[in-house]
Amino acid sequence: MDSHKKNIVILISGSGSNMACIVQAARREQWHKRFDAQIACVISNRPNAEGLSLADKLGLANQVLDHQLFASRQAFDAELMQLIDRWQPALVVLAGFMRILTPDFVEHYAGRMLNIHPSLLPAFTGLHTHQRAIDAGCKVAGATVHQVVAELDHGPILAQAVVPVVAGDTAQSLAARVLSQEHLLYPKAIREWLERA
Ligand code: GAR
Repeated sequence: MDSHKKNIVILISGSGSNMACIVQAARREQWHKRFDAQIACVISNRPNAEGLSLADKLGLANQVLDHQLFASRQAFDAELMQLIDRWQPALVVLAGFMRILTPDFVEHYAGRMLNIHPSLLPAFTGLHTHQRAIDAGCKVAGATVHQVVAELDHGPILAQAVVPVVAGDTAQSLAARVLSQEHLLYPKAIREWLERA
């Protein structure tokens, strides 16, 4: 690990497929040469997140900080900040990180923290985005990469991908269609962020 590079720390809670696609894009596109950037560490708040073994397979430093061991959201976020800051990150990437963040945490990483949300924001913030899009009769759905601000799933939009909602879609089938686009969208949005940084 090169200590002079722009470190990117990725936070996950689940399967980590976005994380893996970002790492693969970084390697394929040589972000270390083009942007002097490297994926420094993957951190999960869930000890059993599948993404942790994926991070292992990809040869990435990874750590668990189990939110269930903390008495309050503030205490967890304060410890998480310490873990992240060991890497002095240029960018923090939320990739399926299923936590509501405290204002202090968001403020600390203001302007250098991105999130991907599985809807066309500002529609359908929060959970169950795909079922809600189907129930609302939406003809299109998608995903949004945005800068993180204190209000959940708000903040300047950096990139969006649109997919059709088709007859007979279930939340699962729509989620799979959206996720396949997330895998292209998030690496692209991060690359564009690095180009501007
Ligand atoms: C992705 O669909 C992402 O958009 C969503 O969780 C999934 C994570 O998949 N994020 C949120 O819902 C955040 N509110 P992954 O772990 O395979 O990348």
